[in-house]
Amino acid sequence: MLGRRAWAEPWKVKMVEHLRMTTRGERERAIREAGFNTFLLPSELVYIDLLTDSGTSAMSDRQWAGLMMGDEAYAGSMNFYHLEAAVRKFYGYKHLIPTHQGRGAEHILSQLCIGSGQIVPGNMYFTTTKMHQELAGGTFADVIIDAAHDPASEHPFKGNCDLAKIERLIREFGAEKIAYLSLETNVNMAGGQPCSLENIKATCELCHRHGIKVFLDATRAVENAYFIQQREQGCARMSLAEILRAICDCTDGCTMSAKKDALVNIGGFLAVNDDELAERARNMVVVYEGLHTYGGLAGRDMEAMAIGIEESVQLDHMHARIGQVEYLGHKLIDAGVPIVRPIGGHGIFLDAKAFLPHVPREEFPAQALSAALYVDSGVRAMERGAVSAGRDKQTGKHLFPALELVRLTIPRRVYTQAHMDVTAESVISLYEDRQSIVGLRFTYEPKYLRFFQARFEPVRGERVLTN
Ligand code: F0G
Repeated sequence: MLGRRAWAEPWKVKMVEHLRMTTRGERERAIREAGFNTFLLPSELVYIDLLTDSGTSAMSDRQWAGLMMGDEAYAGSMNFYHLEAAVRKFYGYKHLIPTHQGRGAEHILSQLCIGSGQIVPGNMYFTTTKMHQELAGGTFADVIIDAAHDPASEHPFKGNCDLAKIERLIREFGAEKIAYLSLETNVNMAGGQPCSLENIKATCELCHRHGIKVFLDATRAVENAYFIQQREQGCARMSLAEILRAICDCTDGCTMSAKKDALVNIGGFLAVNDDELAERARNMVVVYEGLHTYGGLAGRDMEAMAIGIEESVQLDHMHARIGQVEYLGHKLIDAGVPIVRPIGGHGIFLDAKAFLPHVPREEFPAQALSAALYVDSGVRAMERGAVSAGRDKQTGKHLFPALELVRLTIPRRVYTQAHMDVTAESVISLYEDRQSIVGLRFTYEPKYLRFFQARFEPVRGERVLTN
């Protein structure tokens, strides 16, 4: 099926949503009013929205039908039991605690499992995950392999954990000081880069040998499963569902933002195997999210999620989803645009340091590039660099991670290849004219997760794109 012949999406369009085109003048005004932060743009003024793949996917007709089957009982909704069955079947964990989205699950897990002063190793940080670990009194420690920090490295599994880094932490702090290991699949901040099944197994084996639990961030675990099937020796004949179970079966539980893999606009869950931890999580979810059989969701949301999980593990779906990302990536690579290699699962990550060598790190090249892209074509992307990384907890100084990226994130089943062509054209023309992009400085910096609400101004003049 995945041979040399042309392939197409395994769906056809039943309903359309009109897009609004804007003029360059309108976009220049809009980005200035948004403080040069694409998060603050009204979506009505965006042409192609590649801000995120989170909650932006198109649901299927079966999922929409599922919405009509919502059982909106306060307690014991039928849809909860459907979701519980889907999670048990595809992810394999014993206990399901629904939450309004991923960070709701991260909050509960962090509060229950991190003691003050404990270390939480993880394969690269994610913004909300790390924030909740810190709010619970923990300190994140990066244990991803070094290749993940190098945008040009072609390592096929850049999400892998470096076992030597984990062993070093255990030696230095002692296993009791480690709260748990947080294992992310298809690592978002590394560019949507997968872990190999072999590395997941070895990581879990090492942690368990020292009595350290491993919790999966399963947000994009099915996309990771696809890469394992395509790239890892001995896995080509496994189905995505089998690989997903093989990943989850090594771990003690997961947090999940269902807004990604599971093809819904809202929803998430915490799932664990331990009876006592589940009991404590059920007790906590009623305080922050809602009763343990809805966790802040409507019954219909849980039904759509149960159906979405089943659709997410279909090979033709995942082939088209990642195939579209690769289509855009190859267009950019062919034009010489610097992007994170290999092409990741949920988006293309422009290497802003290489794209804009004339803009110093202190002037936030990725923030400037995403603002300039919007001005050029109405395509909305997201900064994933120093602005996202925030400040050091101790020194208060800006953190400058090795990766300074602009993420063009592709929603699932939403845009056509023609939208990818328009996007590629805009990025390529900006690259050819990159000298006309000006750096930015803060005019307002929020305390938590600053990238969402920060405001900026150009370091010179009024415009981020001067051509
Ligand atoms: N973990 C990962 C790996 C994520 O990418 C996200 C969200 C979360 C957890 C939190 O889940 O948003 O449902 O609360 N990522 C979005 C993004 C925001 O655009 O990458 P949430």
